Amino acid sequence: MTYRREEHVLIPESDLEGMSVDTLAVRAGQIRTGQLEHSDAIFPTSSFVYGSAAQAAARFGGDEPGNIYSRFTNPTVQAFEARIAAMEGGERAVATSSGMAAILATCMSLLKSGDHVICSRGVFGTTNVLFQKYLARFGVETTFVGPTDMAGWQAAVRPETRMIFIETPSNPLCEVADMAALAKLSRDNDALFVVDNCFCTPVLQRPLEHGADIIIHSATKYLDGQGRCVGGVVVGSDKLMEEVYGFLRSAGPTMSPFNAWVFLKGLETLPIRMRAHCDNALELARWLEGQGTVDRVYYAGLPDHPQHELAKRQQSGFGGVLSFTVKGAREEAWAFIDATRMISITANLGDVKTTITHPATTTHGRLSPEDKEQAGITESLVRISVGIEAVEDLKTDLQRGFEALENYRQGTV
Ligand SMILES: Cc1ncc(COP(=O)(O)O)c(C=O)c1O
Repeated sequence: MTYRREEHVLIPESDLEGMSVDTLAVRAGQIRTGQLEHSDAIFPTSSFVYGSAAQAAARFGGDEPGNIYSRFTNPTVQAFEARIAAMEGGERAVATSSGMAAILATCMSLLKSGDHVICSRGVFGTTNVLFQKYLARFGVETTFVGPTDMAGWQAAVRPETRMIFIETPSNPLCEVADMAALAKLSRDNDALFVVDNCFCTPVLQRPLEHGADIIIHSATKYLDGQGRCVGGVVVGSDKLMEEVYGFLRSAGPTMSPFNAWVFLKGLETLPIRMRAHCDNALELARWLEGQGTVDRVYYAGLPDHPQHELAKRQQSGFGGVLSFTVKGAREEAWAFIDATRMISITANLGDVKTTITHPATTTHGRLSPEDKEQAGITESLVRISVGIEAVEDLKTDLQRGFEALENYRQGTV
């Protein structure tokens, strides 16, 4: 008898070539053991054994491929890396212990003292702190520019500029940066173009196709999708990723096999989750626009969003995060948030459960008042990461917020 697939312990990459991101999310990268398990295996081991001392020496010396030690080689982590690399269309991915570790590893491995970075003002607050406070101590200076201010990006370039860093859409105001234009600016100035693709994921946007050199993910968000683990990943060319990998091998902020396994499971449902997040977010954004106590809704899916057309060109969906300002200031925003009963008050995003937060006092709370003002993080701003619950039930819960806001305003105005 011939076993048609006996050689298919590993699904070769070539068998999946040209397949859609929906298929890659489920199939790419799986490392099947001799037990021929159907689901991905988990390898919770810190080290690996060798057949002889000579083989150990060959592995350590890089003369023979194979696992050595889970700080830098683990099959479950490698399966996750291979899957996300395939989905992003990159040559290689390197997994990290968190999204911030992904950004740190990228900067530590590819920048040096004296280099200059231009970073979007519309980034996660901690990313701003990492550049402004910590990398500055090692001689890397950063200039912050509004994500859509093309003239500002041009003007910020210096001879020593080596990196342009953006998030698009941005957190929390959903501003959309022009990736093709920024990729050209980076290329013209011999700088790396780095895109944090956390909000869109490869299901909605593939930055390498728009000229990015490196993609960053906080896997903690949509890649997991169910709020279980903290992790990150960097994607790019073999050459650049070899540098990032080298840093991780020496410095250590790597992903654990258990977390990699959870992220592999998360990726399998990412495409269908992203579509559900997008549908719910668009419906809620339209509904919020009609509320009397809402000043402004920030969501690129709305036709009057300033970068609506750009978002349509770069993205295949508008994402699951939206923000809005309520009439009033911090007290009103907090009254609104506190009146919801089902939606989780938490700073995480990208979860199947809808979450609500006040960026000015949480995710962006460490920014100076000036930085907050420049980034548009006002006291009346509320961010919602829209989950996949029934959208009518989300409206019911948010309606409690609007009623509380109305009562608060009547009692105080
Ligand atoms: C856009 C973005 N990038 C990076 C990070 C950092 O990721 P982590 O929390 O996994 O370190 C976050 C976290 O909220 C984020 O929202």
